Amino acid sequence: MGLYRWLLIVAVMVGPLWPAPVGAQPAASTSEGAGETRIDRLLERMTLDEKIGQMTLFTSTWAQTGPTMDPAYLDHVRAGRCGAIFNAMTASYTRWLQRIAVEETRLGIPLLFGYDVIHGHRTIFPIPLAESCSWDLAAIEQSARIAAIEAAAEGIHWTFAPMVDIARDPRWGRIAEGAGEDVWLACRIAEARVRGFQGTDLRRPDTIAACAKHFAAYGAAQAGRDYHTADVSERTLEEVYLPPFEACVKAGVRTVMTAFNEIAGHPCTAHPYLLSDLLRGRWGFTGMVVSDYTAINELVPHGYAADEAEAGRRAVLAGVDMDMQGAVFLTHLRRQVERGEVPMARLDEAVRRILTLKEELGLFDDPYRYCDEAREKRVVFSARHQAAARAMARRSMVLLKNDGGVLPLRPNLRSLAVIGPLAEATVDLLGNWHAAGDGSKVVSILQAVRERVGPGCQVRFAKGCEVEGHDRSGFRAALAAARDAEAVLLVLGERENMSGEAASRVDIDLPGVQNELAEAIARLGRPTAAVLLNGRPLALTRLHAAVPAILEAWFPGSLGGRAVADVVFGDHAPSGKLTVTFPRHVGQIPIYYSMKNTGRPLVADQKYTSRYLDCPNTPLYPFGHGLTYTTFAYSDLQVEPPVVDGGKSVTVRVTVRNTGSREGEEVVQCYLRDLAASVTRPVKELRGFRRLRLAPGASATIEFTLGAGDLSFRRADGTWGWEPGEFRVMVGGSSDLTLEGSFHIRDN
Ligand code: GLC
Repeated sequence: MGLYRWLLIVAVMVGPLWPAPVGAQPAASTSEGAGETRIDRLLERMTLDEKIGQMTLFTSTWAQTGPTMDPAYLDHVRAGRCGAIFNAMTASYTRWLQRIAVEETRLGIPLLFGYDVIHGHRTIFPIPLAESCSWDLAAIEQSARIAAIEAAAEGIHWTFAPMVDIARDPRWGRIAEGAGEDVWLACRIAEARVRGFQGTDLRRPDTIAACAKHFAAYGAAQAGRDYHTADVSERTLEEVYLPPFEACVKAGVRTVMTAFNEIAGHPCTAHPYLLSDLLRGRWGFTGMVVSDYTAINELVPHGYAADEAEAGRRAVLAGVDMDMQGAVFLTHLRRQVERGEVPMARLDEAVRRILTLKEELGLFDDPYRYCDEAREKRVVFSARHQAAARAMARRSMVLLKNDGGVLPLRPNLRSLAVIGPLAEATVDLLGNWHAAGDGSKVVSILQAVRERVGPGCQVRFAKGCEVEGHDRSGFRAALAAARDAEAVLLVLGERENMSGEAASRVDIDLPGVQNELAEAIARLGRPTAAVLLNGRPLALTRLHAAVPAILEAWFPGSLGGRAVADVVFGDHAPSGKLTVTFPRHVGQIPIYYSMKNTGRPLVADQKYTSRYLDCPNTPLYPFGHGLTYTTFAYSDLQVEPPVVDGGKSVTVRVTVRNTGSREGEEVVQCYLRDLAASVTRPVKELRGFRRLRLAPGASATIEFTLGAGDLSFRRADGTWGWEPGEFRVMVGGSSDLTLEGSFHIRDN
């Protein structure tokens, strides 16, 4: 009989052993609290096998997200050899699984249910990279909040998100899952996502534990090839790849997932510095560390362990508390503890963290609190959630080019040709890691356009070509459809599975013969706009030369088709700004805005400066770039005071005016440069932004305050802080379009 039922009987006889329901008195404190807690008591009663079982996470067979599956996971649950399950969902299925754990195991310890709720659960939002281009922290937090509400209603307690890997190489498919190339913005977005998932009280049945992943520097994979070695300097690790994880810890994230890659010889899944000295010692993280999918096993092919027993020992001693799908702890830890190779204290520490998380989620008070069929029916894919997803999709889109104001199209066109291999796409709109998203509920862009235009408009469709491949036989029908149309909408890009995990590409141009199709259509001379569906920056040099207007729609989610129509026909103006640089050519990679100046910065027509023979240094579209259906002018930049004592703040003011004929939103960006310091500093770094909505002709003065924290960096001596000297301030609507001012910090 499960512990829970036994205690229910005892409680009736001798009064509650468990604390009263939340609210009546504080939940049992964790080990830090006064007196023995129920976790202490539970730990005392657990056998070695039961402890190892809690450290074991298996996937159910409802989804596959890695190389191995074990259909015997139910046997492991029944035998107390598994404390957590992932890829299981719906209130009824998780309730059924939970009942097995609670009622058929000796101690009845509830299962923890995890899932990759990355950008929505059933109502799928735009991919995380798209959401980051909204620069709308409140909307990003709301997206995670809605994902948590839906997932929690289906019995899920824990999401393997946010992915906070900085990525500056679009060959790497997982750039789709993050928040782009900028460290400061990625930290703000990471914080918003943790807040959204976890809320303010994990015991609430509509909040779920978040997981900062993949710790760390996974985005630095050499050559953009997934799982490849990350060979970064200690300074780059500290300045670029670690800050978003620290931001998550400070925001209260309750779990961290180790990365597959090594960093300079040490695989992250057994990295003592990362998992103990830094995460626990320096940052004070108190939550639980889970490996990535069989990442412990993979220490053997890494060449970091001679066999899986050694792999498990190195991982658990370095600080991994839970083994995802590898069954390494399950297979080897008992013998290693009995031989004294792994101290029991280390297991107790890991199990305490796992039980504490279950306690924080309220699972010991009521293991079934999240399995709520009624709530599931009420909240999943609700109209409110769909409206939020549609709004986020619109705000994530970036208008890259709009020569001649081709966009927005008039809804009362008499004829419109919709051409391209992704016009009818539905599941692709959901993007990668769309988990429980249902493609059958997605309206395609073609369908959404048909529904949006007036009855007098003849919409002609031709696919033209496939996403990949070299078959041009569809060009003829496409040209016929477009030849005398009043306007042409091209829908081009990648399939959703061409980015995300294990989806690196060496050629990041439009795949297949899509460029040729666009060039052939453009030669007809009709007003032509391209809508892009893709999960990474693409090298769009050919498309940019061929068509006058390009709208980056990313993978916009369940309501993405309608959101594209909203923007294309001007019901809503695009307002997104790129959070990743779009290169002209794959050969420019890595390319990002916050580069160093070098000792020989490019000087036009001077040979011996940092340049290519065959390509400009500049990107096609820079970080921060994004147009809308109006224009903005910046003026009157002021930086005060011009000279300031160290540690004091400066105030930056700028006036922004809507100089166009339509209301519009602008993201005003504030960048900083430290001209000379004890170590070289980037040519600019984002230090603030404001979203601004202005009516035609209206203006506003925006103010930023730059304090000591904004000027601080890891100095040559390894300490964190500012240094005196000359600083530049740059403010504008893109990293390459700014007004410039300066100030000086006096040496105190
Ligand atoms: C995958 C991914 C990770 C995901 C996990 C569980 O391999 O690397 O991001 O959360 O497995 O599906």
